[in-house]
Amino acid sequence: MLKPAVLKELKSIVGPANFSTSPEELVVYSYDATQRDSLPWVVVRPCSSREISEILRLANRERFPVVPRGAGTGMSGGAVPVQGGVVLSLERMNHILEIDEQDFIAVVEPGVITGDLQREVESRGLFYPPDPASRKFCTLGGNVAECAGGLRAVKYGVTKDYVLGLEVVLPTGEIITTGARTVKSVAGYDLTKLIVGSEGTLGVVTRITVRLLPLPETVRTLAAFFSEIPVAAKTASAIIASGVLPRALEFVDQAALRAVEGYLKEDLSHGAAAMLLAEVDGPAESTAREADRIAELMMQNGAVRVDRAGTDAERERLWKARRSISPALYAIKPKKLNEDIVVPRSRIADSLQEIAAIAARHGLLIVNFGHAGDGNIHTNIMFDEADLPKAEAAVKEIFAAVLRLGGSITGEHGIGLSKAAYLPMELGPETIAAMKRIKHALDPNNILNPGKIFLEK
Ligand code: MLT
Ligand code: ZN
Repeated sequence: MLKPAVLKELKSIVGPANFSTSPEELVVYSYDATQRDSLPWVVVRPCSSREISEILRLANRERFPVVPRGAGTGMSGGAVPVQGGVVLSLERMNHILEIDEQDFIAVVEPGVITGDLQREVESRGLFYPPDPASRKFCTLGGNVAECAGGLRAVKYGVTKDYVLGLEVVLPTGEIITTGARTVKSVAGYDLTKLIVGSEGTLGVVTRITVRLLPLPETVRTLAAFFSEIPVAAKTASAIIASGVLPRALEFVDQAALRAVEGYLKEDLSHGAAAMLLAEVDGPAESTAREADRIAELMMQNGAVRVDRAGTDAERERLWKARRSISPALYAIKPKKLNEDIVVPRSRIADSLQEIAAIAARHGLLIVNFGHAGDGNIHTNIMFDEADLPKAEAAVKEIFAAVLRLGGSITGEHGIGLSKAAYLPMELGPETIAAMKRIKHALDPNNILNPGKIFLEK
């Protein structure tokens, strides 16, 4: 707990309206989308890098934890103040500072909602491709901290592929800038890439420069339905292997379909066992050709039906359903461990087969959906409280299988709290030690988001 004099200093840095210790507010800032929670001692809502610098200098002097927070939509516990301390909410730093239509660049504060930036640039014929399922709520700062992926990564890559430069307040309070506004820059170490995906442990991002693309001319969306899950998985691999590059290729299994159909109260699939959603973009002639090719591949590989979205409303309906899966799954069980394994794209069917065997062995329902186009599947182990040990055992077995298949335990959600115990399954002790040396060099007193990524003894 903090001494009254320190609380007073914090309050004077951000102003009384942006400082709170009220129990209600502490609860609001205690959790993220993992269902884990831990109460902070204080919440502050700074509005500038200077205020953040002062807060971090105070934290080093007084040795209290500081946990940066965007919208709390993260899925690995990154924003959960697991050791208490001060939650530093970036919600007031929510301005789009610049959209440069000549150089295809946007500069934003970390609290900008990702979907708002997308809409704003699209209204000017520009395009910000990273597209997390939670884009209506999540923030760019959170996306940068976690290196968010999303639905369009298969063609366009993930957040790190768009961040050109950052302003960052280091854990010890210095304000630095990284990267440049240019397409190319190799001046010194790539600190931008180091910060992106560092899960709020190496600095607080206060300004983000992203590159933009021209808005694709046309978009075509297809939904294919299958009577067997493995056939859908193999079809996804076949589409990728064919060389057509959809901007999205999503897989939804039977349990996820039933859950989302119940949640939205509509029939999407006429009882199918699996669905693939594919979307292509680009000039009209090429999207027409690519959509035809994908439809053909879907039918050749065993789809029972392929629908094409003929209108924007139909497209929207399909994507709304896809984006609603995560919340919809709570209708099945009160608890889920939501993983984001990623395997080589040719091994999706193999990974699903291994997961099905693990589910059967433990008597658990494991639901799979997600970004088949880039091999990143959301494996959701559904359980009642009493089954937690079984669910955790299943997670470990799934990670072992994924690593055997040449994959990674996390494609886009990060290690955070929920996967810290499993990081040594993927990375060797020397690699982890090198990462810890970086953390120690930048945060010698371990005040910034402690307890994340690495298990603390
Ligand atoms: C998604 O793709 O829907 C998100 O990553 C959220 C989730 O994994 O549930
Ligand atoms: Zn996802």
